[in-house]
Amino acid sequence: MLTLNEVAAFYGKSQVLDGVSLDVGTGETVALLGRNGAGKSTLLKSVMGLVRRSGRITFDGHDLDRRSAFESARLGIAYVPEDRGIFGRLTVEQNLAISRRPGAQWSLDDVYDRFPRLAERRRNKGDRLSGGEQQMLAIARALLGAPRLVMLDEPTEGLAPVIVAQLADVLADLRQRGPSVLLVEQRLDLCLQLADRVYVLDSGRVVFDGTVQEFQDAPSIRDRHLALKTAGSTDSPHPD
Ligand SMILES: Nc1ncnc2c1ncn2[C@@H]1O[C@H](COP(=O)(O)OP(=O)(O)OP(=O)(O)O)[C@@H](O)[C@H]1O
Ligand SMILES: [Mg+2]
Repeated sequence: MLTLNEVAAFYGKSQVLDGVSLDVGTGETVALLGRNGAGKSTLLKSVMGLVRRSGRITFDGHDLDRRSAFESARLGIAYVPEDRGIFGRLTVEQNLAISRRPGAQWSLDDVYDRFPRLAERRRNKGDRLSGGEQQMLAIARALLGAPRLVMLDEPTEGLAPVIVAQLADVLADLRQRGPSVLLVEQRLDLCLQLADRVYVLDSGRVVFDGTVQEFQDAPSIRDRHLALKTAGSTDSPHPD
């Protein structure tokens, strides 16, 4: 479905991704792991055409090389960036209404059902929501847009455990009923629970790709290339 072939990405003269190849198949949930600064967010931005890049990126046979973020979205890729990208001046209801596209697997009722908090807050403006509510809204908006692939950049960052658990439930649902997911996430436990396959980036290169089982069977990858956060802690080389 989504394929990156030898992708490089640049900010000005500085090269951030180097020869990255990755794919996400139909119905798959793929986790992208790596330390701070490894290039995870840049990889998602490359797909959306938000950074200068070279190499080949295709989605369902369409070349994304020269497409804008808008065009990639039209092809069915929903991108939820770290800053969530919701409209602060619009209400929850309005934010959701403008995201809807025909043919979505997820209806408005589905998302209110999955995120009851959004239903309660439907008349509140986006900028009056808590961080967790904003994250829910961002994901809900993505799902209503009838995507075939959702790319999430650290959706649980800074959220309370109860909200993280709700998001995890929704991600588990996505794995069951679609769309496909490319998930950047620092919580290893969540990735291993929700993903089919794992990629690890280090300094802009893929240093591991394999199934969750293969990842678990290779603890040296984790020790060498990850410094993952556990809930509420700062970075530690050997979290659990
Ligand atoms: N707008 C930018 N201009 C210049 N350099 C940037 C820019 N954004 C990111 N970088 C650099 O690119 C590298 C990769 O950053 P990126 O944000 O992709 O990492 P990341 O894996 O998402 O990290 P984090 O876990 O902290 O979100 C870092 O060295 C970062 O300093
Ligand atoms: Mg990032």
